Amino acid sequence: MASQGLGVLCSYARQNGTPGLPATLWNIIAAFKTFAVAAALLGAAQAVDVNVRANGGNVTGKFDKFGYGFLHEDINNSGDGGIYAELIQNRAFQYSPSYPVSTAHYSPINGASLGIEFVSPPLSSALPASLRVSATNTTGQVGFQNEGYWGIDVRVQKYTGSFWTKGAYKGEFTAWLKSNLTTDVFGRVQVQSKSVADAWTEHKFELTPSVAAPSSNNTFAVTFDPAGTSNGTLDFNLISLFPPTYKGRANGLRIDIAEALEEMNPTYLRFPGGNMLEGLRLGAEWDWKDSIGPLRERPGFEGVWGYQQTHGLGLVEYLEWAEDMGLHFAVGLYAGLALNGNYTTEAELQPYIQDALNEIEFIISPVTSTWGARRAELGHPEPFELNYVELGNEDWLAGFPGGWESYKAYRFPLMYEAVSKAYPDIQIIASSASSDPNPETAATDGLDFPADVLGDYHPYREPDQLVDEFDRFDNDFGHIVGEVAAVHVNGGIEWLGLLNPYPWWIGAVGESVSLIGYERNSDRIPMVLYAPVLKNINRFQWSITLIQFAADPALTTRAVTWYVWSLFAHHPITHTLPTTSTSDYGPLYWGAGRDDDRGGALVWKGAVFNTTNSSSVPVTVNFQGVRRGTKAKLTVLTNPGGDPFAYNDPFTGVNIVKTTETELVAGPRGGFKFSLPELSVAVLDTDVAAVSKDPPHHYWGKPKHWRGHGRGW
Ligand code: AHR
Repeated sequence: MASQGLGVLCSYARQNGTPGLPATLWNIIAAFKTFAVAAALLGAAQAVDVNVRANGGNVTGKFDKFGYGFLHEDINNSGDGGIYAELIQNRAFQYSPSYPVSTAHYSPINGASLGIEFVSPPLSSALPASLRVSATNTTGQVGFQNEGYWGIDVRVQKYTGSFWTKGAYKGEFTAWLKSNLTTDVFGRVQVQSKSVADAWTEHKFELTPSVAAPSSNNTFAVTFDPAGTSNGTLDFNLISLFPPTYKGRANGLRIDIAEALEEMNPTYLRFPGGNMLEGLRLGAEWDWKDSIGPLRERPGFEGVWGYQQTHGLGLVEYLEWAEDMGLHFAVGLYAGLALNGNYTTEAELQPYIQDALNEIEFIISPVTSTWGARRAELGHPEPFELNYVELGNEDWLAGFPGGWESYKAYRFPLMYEAVSKAYPDIQIIASSASSDPNPETAATDGLDFPADVLGDYHPYREPDQLVDEFDRFDNDFGHIVGEVAAVHVNGGIEWLGLLNPYPWWIGAVGESVSLIGYERNSDRIPMVLYAPVLKNINRFQWSITLIQFAADPALTTRAVTWYVWSLFAHHPITHTLPTTSTSDYGPLYWGAGRDDDRGGALVWKGAVFNTTNSSSVPVTVNFQGVRRGTKAKLTVLTNPGGDPFAYNDPFTGVNIVKTTETELVAGPRGGFKFSLPELSVAVLDTDVAAVSKDPPHHYWGKPKHWRGHGRGW
């Protein structure tokens, strides 16, 4: 479909969701090609008329209308050093078989020696290792500094910090925010010592720098006077510093990243993985119980993406993230498969099933339940609303074929039985799609999906392949699209090739075609999620993303993909609407719907991919029942530079995506006319009034700039 390249005329009225054209029609189409090419050479592809029926579609979504969102797991330092706002790297000297304990990211001040000790008593059984700071100089303050996650953003705002110490000390600590390049100090605060010889004591402080740092190349330091100690030595642990957080949550999210996500208008969050849920080996899965409670009780997680994790962004933080951003969520429940391919036997499965049931109880049950009471103890007595749980992650992949066979034979059926019996109102998602095991693996029988189960489909593809996704769900049962992204350029050699280094324009347009395809089947596809959603540009494993960032918020960059997903997410629909056209899909792809939450606003979404000679496509969208003079807003995303591989580079700050908003007026038969360039993404929405009340861009608030057509068609 992607290489078809021509919008061609034929007398065949295509219905929304109708499978491929009869072969004889391709002959008719071929007869028109000469004409089409001639038109293209004149700068415009064949005009496409789309008729949108007023009725006859389907209600979208399941518990709520269809929506966009993302999978979040801690990959690309998207959690620690990412959306989780903690500024101190290696704050609690956590370790695991893959990541040995160390003093990494710390350096000494005034000749102190720094080392790891396992003192008795430890701060907690979860955090047995701590940092020993020993003075070698007896004069002047000694201590340590931490470089943060590749820097620390310092501005005039309140930082909230704490650290624990063990060792007798009479005197004061000083907490500093200072330059890593010069002797500049931006702020400091004295903290009275409560430290004693035989126990751990917490010290809390607030620090407001008097001046902002010129760059993020800064450190956080703690110093003390060795003269006040018994032997010049103190032990430190859980050294923490937070800037102000999203919605002011303690242990919360980094504001600029969270706001960039929120501004995309997402509806769904899936967590905690992804591969992260599965863990590297049996017994090393992301255990939700380790992620709740005071930070000193969280042991940390042996990350599956090449770094130790803190567990700071734990289950409650994920739930509050969803709550604060107004998101529905899908929770991944561990189903007994590890990334090394080992899986639980049937006899070993029961404790995991019980654990999954307990996790659901923690999330949704009243305070009178055991786990609901624990949730209340942790500060959230109100149950959360949980509509979706997924049993495992990609159980068709790791350990194939054994892992997959065990999922089909007992891991899925037994978990399904237990969860659906205890929580019949929760939608269960299987971790495979109807097309899994996918073509990368040798095919065997698929999962026999119970009628009430959704599949989970993860198309990481080339742009052309994403265009081929357009009709993927025209004849299939319900799925979530739990992970999707353009990852390789066309002609890449599948997973043997390198991922494209940045999300790039033709990839984003390819995604948009697949999104339209999923959305026009949104009676069975309740959500479509991007992954991996965030990327720290200092250390990442997957290059494609929605948002790129570093310590310096000035580098926080919405990738080209963000603009496409944001555009579609800002124009939701409660119902699909059937369309007919005398043109086939391609190079223009479209879908339509109605949003009853916005008074029946009519929405048409389209994308142009692979026209001949890069010509534009003239389009007329006729909404049945719409009267002459009705207004609609057309938003078109293009890359005026024309390079299909252009991307948004955090270091230049140049946004290659141009957003053009135009007010259109319907002609006599309710038609809206416009033209869409090659590699463009568009939304036409009649809800002009509602959109203008809440302008997404400054442009919308200035009617004099509208390029409204003076007359209709
Ligand atoms: O998004 C990156 C990884 O891709 C996810 O962890 C996994 O589910 C998929 O294979």
